[in-house]
Amino acid sequence: MKEKLEALKAEALAKLQEVSDPQVLNDLRVKYLGKKGELTEVLRGMGSLSAEERPVIGQVANIVRGAIEEIIGTKQEVFQQQETQNRLQAEKVDVTLPGRRLPQGGIHPLSRVVQGIEDIFIGMGYRVAEGPEVETDYYNFEALNLPKNHPARDMQDSFYLTEDLLMRTQTSPVQIRTMQAMKGEAPVKIICPGKVFRRDDDDATHSFQFHQIEGLVIGRNIRMSDLKGTLQQFVQEMFGPSTGIRLRPSFFPFTEPSVEVDVSCFKCGGEGCRLCKQSGWLEILGAGMVHPNVLRMGGYDPEEFSGFAFGMGVERIAMLKYGIDDIRHFYNNDMSFVKQFKGL
Ligand code: DAH
Repeated sequence: MKEKLEALKAEALAKLQEVSDPQVLNDLRVKYLGKKGELTEVLRGMGSLSAEERPVIGQVANIVRGAIEEIIGTKQEVFQQQETQNRLQAEKVDVTLPGRRLPQGGIHPLSRVVQGIEDIFIGMGYRVAEGPEVETDYYNFEALNLPKNHPARDMQDSFYLTEDLLMRTQTSPVQIRTMQAMKGEAPVKIICPGKVFRRDDDDATHSFQFHQIEGLVIGRNIRMSDLKGTLQQFVQEMFGPSTGIRLRPSFFPFTEPSVEVDVSCFKCGGEGCRLCKQSGWLEILGAGMVHPNVLRMGGYDPEEFSGFAFGMGVERIAMLKYGIDDIRHFYNNDMSFVKQFKGL
């Protein structure tokens, strides 16, 4: 039996020594040491040994087991190290390789213009207000001094959702909402950017949906000269320090008096060019002194308070500023269009 064990040991060690594959190593471990392995098999025969022989053979068996286990352990360690080494090699990152560039868009020109205008007015102490795009007839028209059947309603063809609800045709309803929320407190100084909707056939300069920015100031002793000075400051920051403004009489139901405001053409400096159609001026916004009826609707006594308001089209300003010739470019989601406005 002792010889059997020695032979087993010799065979096992020789085979294990040559193993170069972890799977084979495991198979050999099962073959020799497993429950049905060869060593176990030999030891089963120990029952037939005499009482003197048993401890001697037992000791030999332990030595054989120990020797086999040791070489398996050493091999396993070698394999593990190899595996770690392989993984490190395979997952190596070359930090000197040039990076992959991700495609980069640009801020949409409309957002850019809105942000620019917001910054200018925030710098003058205004805050940004917002209102709903689905508006009631009351806020969109009536409270702005446009009673039902008023002919001026025809100036803005509307999308009605119900008898009383419509897609707002202008950002002016935010004037009333803000005044009512302020509950008679003064001053009120807001600008409100937002989407507006009109029943228009889309073409190069019209869209059924576009953007406006509304401005409103309410306080004591607010005058037309405050409006003019504010707009003068605004256009200089927006279009350049040599830009001038011109006020022309106009009509809006919610302001009295009302004006149309032109800026001197920032392309030709007022000389006359294609952009300003040789006139030297570009029309950019409507404005005026808040109508007493509108003040009353907003909860302000026109005897004590006065104010001015203005409204401008974001698309028009962006088209003039960036020389864009078709309003539909803004809505086509064409990356090659938006990319041009990177870093402007
Ligand atoms: N809401 C007007 C429009 O859509 C623009 C406007 C004109 C707004 C004069 C005003 C204003 O606040 O005072 O045509």
